[in-house]
Amino acid sequence: MKPRVRREAEVAEAAGEGGRKVRPKARGAESAGGAGQARSCEPLLVEAELRASRVEGAAGEGEEGRAGDGPGVRLVTLTLAAPELARRAEPGQFLLVRTALASSLDPLLRRPFSVCDADPERGEVRIHFQVVGRGTAFLAERRPGERLDVLGPLGRGFSLPRWLRPGEEVLLVGGGAGAAPLPLLALRARAAGLRPVAFLGAATLQALPLAEVLRAAGAEVHLATLDGSAGRRGTVVEALEAWLAGRAPATGPRLLSACGPRGMLLAVARLARRFNLPCQVSLEERMACGLGACLGCHCGQQLAELRAAAGWEEKPAPEPAGVGPRVCADGPVFWLRGGEEESV
Ligand SMILES: Cc1cc2nc3c(=O)[nH]c(=O)nc-3n(C[C@H](O)[C@H](O)[C@H](O)COP(=O)(O)OP(=O)(O)OC[C@H]3O[C@@H](n4cnc5c(N)ncnc54)[C@H](O)[C@@H]3O)c2cc1C
Ligand code: FES
Repeated sequence: MKPRVRREAEVAEAAGEGGRKVRPKARGAESAGGAGQARSCEPLLVEAELRASRVEGAAGEGEEGRAGDGPGVRLVTLTLAAPELARRAEPGQFLLVRTALASSLDPLLRRPFSVCDADPERGEVRIHFQVVGRGTAFLAERRPGERLDVLGPLGRGFSLPRWLRPGEEVLLVGGGAGAAPLPLLALRARAAGLRPVAFLGAATLQALPLAEVLRAAGAEVHLATLDGSAGRRGTVVEALEAWLAGRAPATGPRLLSACGPRGMLLAVARLARRFNLPCQVSLEERMACGLGACLGCHCGQQLAELRAAAGWEEKPAPEPAGVGPRVCADGPVFWLRGGEEESV
């Protein structure tokens, strides 16, 4: 079945759900978050058929909620038939997915998920998420053949700057389900002739299903688990720090890209400063419109803290009138050090 694709006017109306109709800025437009990062200029609203659903997770009883990635965590991977999204999506961009039946407006707001993988040949996109509440629980119950209402791709994604040379290492760091955008970034890095080295952390091995996906994408994968069930015992940042400390600066990695919980990103930012690595991170805030209109996803304070930790020395770009940087339109990916954002 072919997915139905709606165009811009419909998109803005559906996405707004109370917000203003806006036309997102074109690729490469200036913003508070930097320039030249990947984004497509016209998001699409697609009714995508669910091709596959996989639920994994750590064994044991646990409460749903943002309780971390320990026992009881449910991790879901959904594969959607959406050829145009697959063709356009860039690493680090996200999709807004409706999490209610067609007959219901509850919950009203779509939920954001990073594009985990995009395969233009198969016409498929994949998202990977942790069940934390109503919206994600709804999606976890969907079955192949059902259709999901998806808006995207949205936001500014990760960059692979032109100054990277073939054969150079690029570091990808992810915590828990926050690592979702890394497989597509690893694929693009490989395609650009780079060597992606991924560090993944979680409470326990079962909460790390993306490790295999990243290996399949061509990345060298290092794991860290709090219970020691896989890789180094401890946090992913400790594993990364030990690895970086053992590298000669001249032959070490040239770029650090990270996504995960705030505490992890702060620790990554400090490592970027200590090892003098250009660093880009994907941020999360609760979202409403997803198009920059409702101003509901400010991340100015979070970004300032991260940039301070990373030793940001340049004057930040001017903010849009009256607004701080927004995760949905100026991010979700932001540079923490330097302005070398030109993409390959
Ligand atoms: C750009 C972006 C990309 C994202 N990509 C992914 C992804 O690839 N995989 C993934 O697992 N999650 C991702 N998230 C987070 C995901 O959107 C939320 O977990 C989801 O919206 C929760 O919906 P829910 O209805 O299940 O939970 P709710 O019932 O809305 O909330 C449940 C609990 O989760 C907390 N929560 C909800 N949304 C967020 C948020 N955005 N940030 C922090 N806490 C939140 C709430 O405060 C509450 O405690 C992303 C968020 C953003 C902004
Ligand atoms: S969610 Fe509306 S501005 Fe970001």
